[in-house]
Amino acid sequence: MKPSRSKLSSTVLCVLLQLCSLQLLVVAMPTCRLLEDVVLNTHHLLRDLGGAFPVQCLKYNINISFPDSAFPASTANHPQCRQALWVVYETLRETQLLFEDFELPVGEGGVSWDRKKLSSFQNLQDRLLEEGSCLSTNKTPDVLSPYFSNVTAVVQQQGSAACGWMALRRDVLWVLKTALREHHSCFTRRGRH
Ligand SMILES: *[C@@H]1O[C@H](CO)[C@@H](O)[C@H](O)[C@H]1NC(C)=O
Ligand SMILES: *[C@@H]1O[C@H](CO)[C@@H](O)[C@H](O)[C@H]1NC(C)=O
Repeated sequence: MKPSRSKLSSTVLCVLLQLCSLQLLVVAMPTCRLLEDVVLNTHHLLRDLGGAFPVQCLKYNINISFPDSAFPASTANHPQCRQALWVVYETLRETQLLFEDFELPVGEGGVSWDRKKLSSFQNLQDRLLEEGSCLSTNKTPDVLSPYFSNVTAVVQQQGSAACGWMALRRDVLWVLKTALREHHSCFTRRGRH
């Protein structure tokens, strides 16, 4: 039995509609990727915008100690990769919030970072947060929030603010470096999606 012409065209239409809605779905879905070279540049800008961690800030290590265990032990599978990328995403997101909520202390005993590099760093940070936006829906408990509450407490107080920012920078650098070194297979490389 040959299908009638009208039946055939309605089948074609149906397939086309399904393809279209699939495409819409893909377009509407927030992206979940972090580009490796953008993360690398972000790391380099943060590394180069200021000097080494000051000795006089060491005493705040009790207050500010990044939970290393937030990273998965290995990245052999998809959930572990997602966790590793989430640590990067969430660290950058909380850092962006701190920059929005508090001014960097200037003047003597303040933070003397290269403003141009800082602003380039923040631009890349914004881009990573946009491109990785779907990572925000992580199902594991938020292991980073006690850390960021502590950073906020130290950054909030006048006497310790500069050290709070220095410690934050040290830890964000550690997060980016660790992710790039130990979980590099989780990142997206340009030209090979
Ligand atoms: C937060 O600060 C308290 C001391 O005020 C410290 O005992 C705790 O380990 C800190 N936690 C983190 C994640 O830095
Ligand atoms: C650091 O933590 C101690 C408790 O371990 C607390 O008394 C102190 O206020 C904290 N310092 C800052 C600047 O938050």
